[in-house]
Amino acid sequence: MKGVILAAGKGSRLYPVTHHIPKPLLPIANRMTLEYAFEQLVGMGIHEICVVVGENEQVMKDRLGNGSEFGVDLTFVRQTDPHGLAHAVGFTREFVHRDKFVLYLGDALYDRPLKPYAEQFLSSGCENLNLVKEVEDPRRFGVANVVDGRIVKLVEKPANPESPYAMAGLYFFGPAIWDVLVDLRPSARGEYEITDAIQLLIDGGADIRPGIFEGVWFDTGTLESFLETSRFLTEEGVLMGQGAEILAPVGRHVVVGADAMVEA
Ligand code: G1P
Repeated sequence: MKGVILAAGKGSRLYPVTHHIPKPLLPIANRMTLEYAFEQLVGMGIHEICVVVGENEQVMKDRLGNGSEFGVDLTFVRQTDPHGLAHAVGFTREFVHRDKFVLYLGDALYDRPLKPYAEQFLSSGCENLNLVKEVEDPRRFGVANVVDGRIVKLVEKPANPESPYAMAGLYFFGPAIWDVLVDLRPSARGEYEITDAIQLLIDGGADIRPGIFEGVWFDTGTLESFLETSRFLTEEGVLMGQGAEILAPVGRHVVVGADAMVEA
């Protein structure tokens, strides 16, 4: 299985910071945001990873290189003129070829390993498995209707959700996805939606399953959620690297600037 990480967004909800540093490279609790994604994929035994970049292409390549620093083997593709998640996936076809692959939204962060979902996907032999999480207000997500362990319907940002299960940023695919991408039409918001692509698979009778996630899932796209994620990871002691040893005994809600020196 291969990995695809979507990291082309402009991070406009985090301006002005992301004018200077692309969002996937921003540190959250002492680690670059994308390192969490790499770690999850490596945990699934995946090392061949394609990062979909956009205008941030050069700075992303300069910082990530071939991925060896992170124990992965990176390929970059550029999504020109972004038009949604399914549009972005289309650029990775040559990289994925006929393999199975996991699609990871670069904004997403989880509090526990996602490996069990990779195992569930591979052992079930289904065509596609999507991480879903029960949320209070599913209206701002793709929403999955689940019946008897299958996803039977998917709607992107429904005004009246029929189910509490939000699509939670992680998708496993087999090769059938390539056949439906060509038939996809833009949604009401003008994007090629990955949820609509999966709905086409459902319409064609494919076996589509939910991976029900009961942990903590963060979408780090807004300043508020970005800070909340940092706070959560800091408090949970998920800090890594040298800074962690210094910070851990200091307590909660401590932010240390890049130039700051902490003395014992
Ligand atoms: C995208 C997907 C949506 C999914 C969400 C998860 O939404 O379209 O189905 O639930 O990511 O974060 P977007 O962030 O583009 O609004």
